[in-house]
Amino acid sequence: MTALKNDRFLRALLKQPVDVTPVWMMRQAGRYLPEYRASRAKAGDFMSLCMNPEFACEVTLQPLERYPLDAAILFSDILTIPDAMGQGLYFETGEGPRFRKVVSTLADIEALPIPDPQKDLGYVMDAVSTIRRELNGRVPLIGFSGSPWTLATYMVEGGSSKDFRKTKAMLYDNPVAMHLLLDKLAQSVTSYLNGQILAGAQAVQIFDTWGGNLSAAAYQEFSLAYMRKIVSGLIREHDGRKVPVILFTKNGGLWLESIADAGADALGLDWTCDIGEARRRVGSKVALQGNMDPTVLYAKPEAIRAEVARILASYGPGSGHVFNLGHGITPEVDPEHAGAFIRAVHEFSAQYHR
Ligand code: CP3
Repeated sequence: MTALKNDRFLRALLKQPVDVTPVWMMRQAGRYLPEYRASRAKAGDFMSLCMNPEFACEVTLQPLERYPLDAAILFSDILTIPDAMGQGLYFETGEGPRFRKVVSTLADIEALPIPDPQKDLGYVMDAVSTIRRELNGRVPLIGFSGSPWTLATYMVEGGSSKDFRKTKAMLYDNPVAMHLLLDKLAQSVTSYLNGQILAGAQAVQIFDTWGGNLSAAAYQEFSLAYMRKIVSGLIREHDGRKVPVILFTKNGGLWLESIADAGADALGLDWTCDIGEARRRVGSKVALQGNMDPTVLYAKPEAIRAEVARILASYGPGSGHVFNLGHGITPEVDPEHAGAFIRAVHEFSAQYHR
């Protein structure tokens, strides 16, 4: 494999010294970019982008052509796993993801297969190897998956939800069924992420988008326990390099100490916690990724730059910080503002790495 020309993202995740703070954006390939919208129109729809490795590669690289980003993230979706389990994923324009089949009973869960990454999700593995080849060592490639809990919410609700009514009811009425579903998902996620690592992903992130919606006790039992299990089953070194693991529980700020104990290398932070305080709480256990409110990008470049400076100062000197947004960039953001954000991170952070 080609040597990495820019490895500051991997180095920061392992708390090794860097010249400037690395930066990437969740959902960096997406609808705020006109070139993404053009590729999606060419492909026909969102899933066709994901399922065709050439298209997936094209859109993965688009934000890297515009901005000096320090990492690429595989273009795909977390819902590829439920789709491979036979749920029938589709996207209704303007309505988000939907499933043809929903999971409601213990029998439904018992019947779910555990997907084989090569056979059932081969299009994702092909996208990873295609993107790695085209990146040619420019920056590292991030692979990802949803957390079991987050995937379960979509499978049980049949799509997005505001209150997770069916999923919560199942958790409290039928914890045995919920645990079986989460266990199957944990096995599926482990082999899916290992497949991505073997295909060339150089770091992996687990998106626990809805973990923060659980009670403190339920979070431990129904989300964190399964992420811990996944982390312990992941390939942690490949091609002579460590493969860092990032756990991102949105709204998990109250539980950082226990998330830091789950065995991952880094935690993703949303914008509701102060990153300096988070650093003091997790100590030297993990690196931190985050955590600018994505809506700051609606403001003018001067305000964006001030917010970047504030977050860098809060984290303070030394490595162990990967700059990111606290959640995905939204479709309405002006691409120029994203550029101002990324350049500000590099410009203002050098002083913290001397
Ligand atoms: O970060 C990246 O650039 C990589 C690609 C990526 C996508 N989805 C592409 C996408 C990643 C990492 C995801 C993860 C994902 N998908 C999550 C977890 C992260 C998060 O945002 O909390 C979740 C919950 C999903 C499920 C999902 N996929 C939803 C709810 C939606 C619709 C929401 C929306 O923005 O319309 C999707 C579709 C989706 N996934 C889009 C993209 C670029 C928009 C599809 C389009 O082009 O219309």
